[in-house]
Amino acid sequence: MIVLGVLISGRGSNLMAIVKAIEEGRLNARVAVVLSNRADADGLVFAREKGIDAVWVDRGAFDSQAAYESDILVALQSGGVQWVVLAGYMRILGPTILAAYPDHVVNIHPSLLPDFKGLDVPRRVLESGVSEAGCTVHLVDETLDGGRILGQARVPVLQGDTEASLSARILVEEHRLYSQVLQSLSGL
Ligand code: GRF
Repeated sequence: MIVLGVLISGRGSNLMAIVKAIEEGRLNARVAVVLSNRADADGLVFAREKGIDAVWVDRGAFDSQAAYESDILVALQSGGVQWVVLAGYMRILGPTILAAYPDHVVNIHPSLLPDFKGLDVPRRVLESGVSEAGCTVHLVDETLDGGRILGQARVPVLQGDTEASLSARILVEEHRLYSQVLQSLSGL
């Protein structure tokens, strides 16, 4: 069994899908702690309802990114976290956590990387006219959405798609893919 620490900033639907996969026996893992940089993240409420340690870490309370990440690191390490899982965490991770968890930080991104790195992906996908979209789970390094790819899922871009309809189609695949890739990590 692998021990996960999940970093979020908002809705937390990927967190919820991971917890569901654990409950249904599709993922042999335990979520030791959920950390959010936003106090009002829905994912924090969900985690608390599930009895998972859920912590808001306020970046504004720290003088530097390093001090902020050190605080997160203490929570991860005291929870025995083996893999750091970014799930809609809207901050760039700095060297403090990456150095403590080399090749053990993963992220999910709503595009077929290396295409469409960064923010606002569905809008850019639609504007580009490509016929295929998807999502990627990858290792996190110091580059933006740039670490080694661990898994991808594809969806079609359909005629008449809006940002909302395309995002929803990708999100269904995100929820399936993330747990599947995490399960493959548990065998490492
Ligand atoms: C997802 O689309 C994920 O790919 C991106 O941020 C979104 C998070 O959604 N990194 P949620 O908070 O897991 O619902």
